Amino acid sequence: MKSSNEIRKEFIRFFEKRDHTLVPSAPVVPQDDPTLLFTNAGMNQFKSIFLGDNPRGLKRAVNSQKCMRVSGKHNDLEEVGRDHYHHTFFEMLGNWSFGDYYKKEAIKWAWELLTEVWKLPKDRLFATVYKDDDEALAIWKSETDIAHDRIMRFGEESNFWEMGETGPCGPCSEIHFDTGDASTREATFNDPLRGVNGENDRYRELWNLVFIQYNREKNGSLSPLPACHVDTGMGFERIVSVIQGVDSNYDTDLFRPIISELEKMSGKAYSNGPQGTPFRVIGDHIRALVFAVTDGAFPSNEGRGYVLRRILRRAYRFGRELGFKDPFLYKLVPVLIKNMGEAFDEIAQRQSYLEEVIRSEEERFGATLEQGIEKFETMVKNSLKSGSKKLSGSDLFTLYDTYGFPMDLTRLMASEMEMGVDEEGYAQLMKQQKERAREARKGEAGGLSPEGWVELREASGTAFVGYDSDSTEVNVCRYKRVEDESAKVVYLLILDKTPFYAEAGGQVGDRGLIQTSSGTELVVEDTFKWNDLVIHKCKSGTSLSDEDLKAPLTAEIDTAFRSSTRCNHTATHLLQAALRAVLGNHVQQSGSRVDPWGLRFDFTHFKALTSAELKRIEQLVNEWIMEDYSLVTDVMGADEAKSQGATALFGEKYGEKVRVITIGEISKELCGGTHVLSTGRIGMFHIVGEESVSAGIRRISAITGMETVNAIWDKEMRLSQLGTLLKCAEGSLVEKVSGLLDTVKDLEGKLKTYNVQRAKESVAELFREAEDNKGEIAFSVKDMGEVDKEAFLGFADAISDTIKQCGLNSVVILIGARVGEKALFAAGAGKDAVSKGIRCGDLVKTAAKITGGGGGGSPHRAQAGGKDYTKIQQALKEVKEQLSQKANI
Ligand code: ALA
Repeated sequence: MKSSNEIRKEFIRFFEKRDHTLVPSAPVVPQDDPTLLFTNAGMNQFKSIFLGDNPRGLKRAVNSQKCMRVSGKHNDLEEVGRDHYHHTFFEMLGNWSFGDYYKKEAIKWAWELLTEVWKLPKDRLFATVYKDDDEALAIWKSETDIAHDRIMRFGEESNFWEMGETGPCGPCSEIHFDTGDASTREATFNDPLRGVNGENDRYRELWNLVFIQYNREKNGSLSPLPACHVDTGMGFERIVSVIQGVDSNYDTDLFRPIISELEKMSGKAYSNGPQGTPFRVIGDHIRALVFAVTDGAFPSNEGRGYVLRRILRRAYRFGRELGFKDPFLYKLVPVLIKNMGEAFDEIAQRQSYLEEVIRSEEERFGATLEQGIEKFETMVKNSLKSGSKKLSGSDLFTLYDTYGFPMDLTRLMASEMEMGVDEEGYAQLMKQQKERAREARKGEAGGLSPEGWVELREASGTAFVGYDSDSTEVNVCRYKRVEDESAKVVYLLILDKTPFYAEAGGQVGDRGLIQTSSGTELVVEDTFKWNDLVIHKCKSGTSLSDEDLKAPLTAEIDTAFRSSTRCNHTATHLLQAALRAVLGNHVQQSGSRVDPWGLRFDFTHFKALTSAELKRIEQLVNEWIMEDYSLVTDVMGADEAKSQGATALFGEKYGEKVRVITIGEISKELCGGTHVLSTGRIGMFHIVGEESVSAGIRRISAITGMETVNAIWDKEMRLSQLGTLLKCAEGSLVEKVSGLLDTVKDLEGKLKTYNVQRAKESVAELFREAEDNKGEIAFSVKDMGEVDKEAFLGFADAISDTIKQCGLNSVVILIGARVGEKALFAAGAGKDAVSKGIRCGDLVKTAAKITGGGGGGSPHRAQAGGKDYTKIQQALKEVKEQLSQKANI
């Protein structure tokens, strides 16, 4: 049997022989396209080429792209596991032409590969074309030997391909394969319901050839692109199942090892029917988790992190059906790596990290799953009891909010019990949260849509000259006027070249000035990349015309801004090396932020750092600064860099040529950022913070250079102020403060004794008054004025204690007091008073009620409170009257 690895290679070789360049798969987490959560097609990484920017002049490309279809326009999550050929994560084999060949070659080669190289039976293959695409139809007839009745026309839904709400698109031609019985083929393939593109599993789409010629704009219209392109996508798992001659993708060598491991671990046997669903879901989901986490996603509560969390929780819950009670998914990581690590070595390199992330996320959910399931079962019972076959919005929300059940998991569990769910009620409760998220996303993409650009010159990428120069003459290729949040005019400029560094690899975008030839200044507030274009975001006091922007301009960066940023960037490389030296080689960068004010570095590590570790790290970095190592920058092929052991950021998209920054024997990293010439220029390095960002990820914040000097002076000033305040030398501060703390403690103790004493005295007064009020029972009712809570409780205790200790059996005391904005009451009564019908609980309840509250207690002692302290007098008067009546019985 031909292995999947061989099949992948054969596809690539076929197109390499036809002058296609192999382009590695982009990460499944897109780097700079805010319109996409996950890479959902092979063409994503080429989007900017379709839109007209092709700086490398690429004409033909081939690859196998890691894709996820779990959100947005293309979402297959619900199908996974129920059928045998939809996946959350899958590979898409593709060949591309960028303004080069078009329909004829695309169709001819697809047919040749399928029928001549892979020898698929021709009578099982069907071609579809877009309803108006006579050209494609004619090509199928003239360039291939497919039977003409097997070429079919379809409408927009299946034969006009779009990437998302916006973006490159065009008509397509698909190739379908019949996995079914030959005897019923002729009767079914043309049937709209049971045939190709119908509701029938037997006809499966294998390969989609898209003829990209439009861009779908934000307003829904189609605008033609400058050139026509070819974008094809073949479902790798599907073609492997066809070539390996199995009915199900899960029976291919891509999934079999995972399923066998699951069989071993659970002691249950896999079957192709509905009982096999948990195996299929888990087999699918573990791949999505491993590839997405490898490429930089992390389970969390929002955005792509939440998609991962949903996938993991779904898989974990299906694990219960196989009898797993503890984390088990992470145990599948090695099997997957063994199977796919050759084609995608990034997963092999992250094995222990992957296991740790998946296991700890499983543990997190495992802790509430059992309770959640119990709660769910109670909810189902209660709904049925009240005559509803639907779980309410608030039930769904509770399951989500308290037990961490993603909605799709609850929906699935409900459908297993033949229950419905109140989606609307749930949506209502989630709405606010979602709106906030949507607003945030809108902001992210603000102003950056493809419309509204004024083209002054052809743009073929912006050359970055800022490694060597701080200022240079530049030309504007495109610009756009937009308004920012405060309605100020902002100019977005795309230049032919620039000294401005565009935000990337954690390093902040440069700021500075761009001047027109007539002297008008544009203040550059930020520089960043969007779809491979470098955008300069500028403001100007003067309105600018096309003419102003057509002539050459001078662009000059803010050198102070850049210079401090540089120190922090190089310090980040030293920090990474020091972390590895002190904590171990498991430390992997998971994010960073470098700007003129400091640096932040996120990395994988499972414990908080001790102060000894932090000190050692800080010392090491400073030692390396003092050694004043020169930085060496080399530009080389990505493979060569990796073979030299350069550290690369996982999931980062690197070009063919990469920059490698070497600092002595200490560090070698792939990095496009800007750096100091030698480490001595950093001056000094100081850690100012260490914290956890999420499970398994720590963050160190640090400062360098002048910021360190300023921080030392801030501390110095504070210490000297403290010395002046405490009247002692710096060296004795600790001793002095601890002496003061002892004194404070001592005084607090004395104050407490004093307050108790005072409370007793005030209470003694009450008892004297009671003596004066002696009928059958002696009573006193008093407003103690405004006191704090402690004092009030002191009074209450003293009343009961005195009654008990002094055997004042016929005494009743009730007090009221204002505590903050509240009225509080307390009462105590001796046993004879109680036997004569006095109930402290009732007394305080009466008083509390008048002040708008409630409370109670035993007949002997009770406390209560109300909201309205202005009614204390009235309340006491009422109680006093009641007592007077009782006392005189
Ligand atoms: N971009 C096309 C697809 O994803 C090939 O189907």
